Parts: sequence; C-alpha cells; structure tokens
Amino acid sequence: MRRSLVVGNWKMNGTRASAESLAKGIIAGLGSNKAADIAVCAPYVYLPCVGDVVKGTPLALGSQNVADKPSGAFTGEISAAMLKEFNCQYALVGHSERRSYYGDTNESVAARFCQAQEQNIIPILCVGETLEEREQNKTFAVINEQLDAVINAAGITAFKAAVIAYEPVWAIGTGKTATDEQAQEVHHYIRQYIAAKDQAIADKIQILYGGSAKPDNAKGLFAMPDIDGGLIGGASLDAESFLKIYHSI
Ligand code: 13P
Repeated sequence: MRRSLVVGNWKMNGTRASAESLAKGIIAGLGSNKAADIAVCAPYVYLPCVGDVVKGTPLALGSQNVADKPSGAFTGEISAAMLKEFNCQYALVGHSERRSYYGDTNESVAARFCQAQEQNIIPILCVGETLEEREQNKTFAVINEQLDAVINAAGITAFKAAVIAYEPVWAIGTGKTATDEQAQEVHHYIRQYIAAKDQAIADKIQILYGGSAKPDNAKGLFAMPDIDGGLIGGASLDAESFLKIYHSI
C-alpha cells in the first residue's frame, strides 16, 4: 500500500506575512490524517520563515526548483545544499512553467533531479504533455522522453527516493481538469513504464496528479488506483481549500 502525498505549489504568489499565515492555517487544520503526507513548495525567499512555522509539524517544506550544479558562478541559482540548510525535504524539478518560460530541457531537469538527490532532497519530477501534443497522440512519447532523460542520468534505482507528478500542461491553471479516467490512463502508463525496468520501484513510487485539482474533483482523482495524491497550484493558496483536498484522500 502506497502512502499518499499532497503538495501545494505556491508558485510566485503571496507575501512573507501571507506565506506564514497560510502555513499556520494549514497546520491548524491537519487533524490526524494518517493516510497522507503533506508539503508546501514556497517561493525561495519564504523558505526560512515558512520553515520556522512548519518545524516539528507534519507539514513538510519544498522548493519550486533547484540548481543543476552544486555551486559556483551561476548567478540567480539556488543550490541543493542551500535548500538543505533550510530543511527542504522536497524540490520540484521540471515544472512545465520552468520548461516553457525558462528554458528547462529534459537534460537540465535530469541534472536538477540528481543535484536534489545528492543532498537527500526528494525531487518531485514533473512531466506532462501540451494540448497540441495530446491532440497529436504524442502524450506517451513526450512522457517517455521526459522520464528517459532522468533514468539515463540518474539510473532507475534513483526513483526509490523520488516522486513523479503528472501535470498535463493543458490542465494547469485553466480550470480544465483531466477526467479521472484520462489522468488514471497516464498514471498507469507511467507506472508500467517504470515497472518494465524495476517492478518493486514501480509499486512503491508515488505518482501525483496536478492541473486544476480542486476540492470538488480531488476525491474522484485520488480514488483512481495509480493516483497517489496531488500537486496543487491555485487551490493550495487558500488553507481551507488545500485542506479539503488533503482530507479527500
Ligand atoms: P493549478 O492547480 O493552479 O492548475 O496548478 C497546477 C500546478 O502547476 C501545480 O504545480
């Protein structure tokens, strides 16, 4: 039985004060949900203050990216070692907004993934197709490439300490969620793809769904056999709606 995981991706939103109060609001409503883990990926500059708020609570901390190099002359980048100092347990890598607006490639995403693992930070590898790719029946081919780049760089055993998030680009921030069946089909595909290389890892790895997940559609998505939780954007910015999603597990 896999443990579920719900992760909030705050993206570039909020203020220091709102980040702290959002984290406090989430902690206040956690209750005793034993079935699922929960984390928030805060903007880099709020990691220290949100880290202070979550210390000693079940709410884990994550970053939204991590550098593809360990240190050096890489202006504007934040290394995995720096994130570790602020108790980040997770780091998103390869979010579609990074891939489409900031030039992340499959290869640089794989390097970020490796850097996170070097510091025992669990990378959450984001994969997913655009609407155009889906309409051209390229969904699985795109996902193969996104997974292969990381498998080639890190090896399949690296997936023992990683999470995968399937985020169809056409569903992100659009209000157009994938149906339960559409999401399950791709999640199943990803698990089979990993299983062909290592069955035990495939059975254990958490595969999260992301893309307009909301309190009113989370239950159906989370009930699907290969969906182990969610990566939540907009709905994670409000403690009540994020908690409702978490408690739908
Ligand atoms: P939305 O939930 O706002 O669609 O964002 C999903 C996402 O990109 C999470 O990483």
